[in-house]
Amino acid sequence: MRILIVEDDSKSARLIRDILELRGHSVIEAGNGLSAMRMINDHLPDLIFMDINLPGMDGMTLTKLIKASSKTGRIPVIALTAAAMKGDRARFTQAGCDDYVSKPFHIKDILEMLNKYGGAVEQGAKVRPSIVLVADDMPQNIELIDATLSPLGYHTISANNGIQALEKIRTLHPDIALINVVMPGLNGMDVCKNIKSDEYYSTIPVIMITALDDADDKINALSAGADEFLTKPIDRSELIVRVGNLLKIKKHIDGLNSKILEKTQELQKVNSDLKEANSDIIYRLSKAVEYMDVDTGEHNVRVSRYVMIMANAMGFSKDDVETFYLASSLHDVGKIGVPLSILLKPSALTPEEFEQIKRHTIVGARILHSSGVRLLEMAGKVALTHHERVDGTGYPHGLKTDSIPVEGRITALADVFDSMTIKRPYRDALPVDQTVEYIKSNAGTQFDAHITDIFLRHLKDILDIKYMIKA
Ligand SMILES: [Fe+2]
Ligand SMILES: [Fe+2]
Repeated sequence: MRILIVEDDSKSARLIRDILELRGHSVIEAGNGLSAMRMINDHLPDLIFMDINLPGMDGMTLTKLIKASSKTGRIPVIALTAAAMKGDRARFTQAGCDDYVSKPFHIKDILEMLNKYGGAVEQGAKVRPSIVLVADDMPQNIELIDATLSPLGYHTISANNGIQALEKIRTLHPDIALINVVMPGLNGMDVCKNIKSDEYYSTIPVIMITALDDADDKINALSAGADEFLTKPIDRSELIVRVGNLLKIKKHIDGLNSKILEKTQELQKVNSDLKEANSDIIYRLSKAVEYMDVDTGEHNVRVSRYVMIMANAMGFSKDDVETFYLASSLHDVGKIGVPLSILLKPSALTPEEFEQIKRHTIVGARILHSSGVRLLEMAGKVALTHHERVDGTGYPHGLKTDSIPVEGRITALADVFDSMTIKRPYRDALPVDQTVEYIKSNAGTQFDAHITDIFLRHLKDILDIKYMIKA
């Protein structure tokens, strides 16, 4: 297969080149977008590894150009990226990348991509030779193994000591390793333990080569994780059978692993689609509530964003912040149960009308509770308690301090801040300074003092959101 590596970092490029060439692929390299473009047109590679951060034309733009052309559009492009962040996969896919590998990458990541995207091209091509690493400090042993295996189509690589053996395993990822127990420096047992304790290399079968009568060595080799052992002097037929058997098993395991990987990726995709659908439904439901309340605009979105800033500052986990963000946007969902004539009344409410308004907390909790879904349970809790006050004078239950869930206390502050600074049917928007003063003077009575403190410390971020998402 002809593979193009587009990478300005020569060390990364070298690493990929070695592993690909060893597997019989022909590799071409480009250090920037323009020379990559020229090479693609001249050589039409079968696969491209594309660094995203390139000098001049970046990898995304280059990928878009490749995919837009009928001549090159079918070539799979794998993005190499320094930091794959949430949402990056979507950006890469949009640019036309078929997949991506995050740096620092492991050889295994590259091999996985090769299996995934090289399969179609390699079909019908001759099967690549299995790579056998032989680690021994005695050259004649290496020669004997090479002379036995090479005629059968194996490709052997050698190491003269333990450190070199580990290095070659990490950089070249052989299909199997034959390791002599006695070697200078790091001995064979330690090399084996190292391989077997590393998740990236542990599937490489290891055959330990031991002295004929050393029973201890054999037991130690097995407990170090070796899959098999051979005794010296090496019997050629035994060598051939053991290597062949282990490789057959490895091929089977590799096949299973790549199926598992494929299924896991499918599941992750389904999971993230579901998550996206979830947030979309919540967003639309919160919009439906906003439509009833003509003047509040994006009130729910702003409250959720304020809540997110405070929850982050208070050390909520990433997962909890995400759930709380969505849950808080439904805090007023119970307004569905309040007559529009009261909700939109341009003048002050009578005590009876205010009692009706208060019911939106209970209605909201009823709509959301007992679903068993964590997000909706939290939303129910927030809907019920976002009008409670820490001194016990809030509604609907007059809860005090810590008996009000922290999510309710945070949302209460975010909700009041936003409601006061936007125009309502019965009054104009209040200035931010005046609202902040109100919040400060009610810390410890209406609002949780600690949460007020967090709010004031992050006021700049909160105001950024306020001005970004206009009422
Ligand atoms: Fe409310
Ligand atoms: Fe609200």
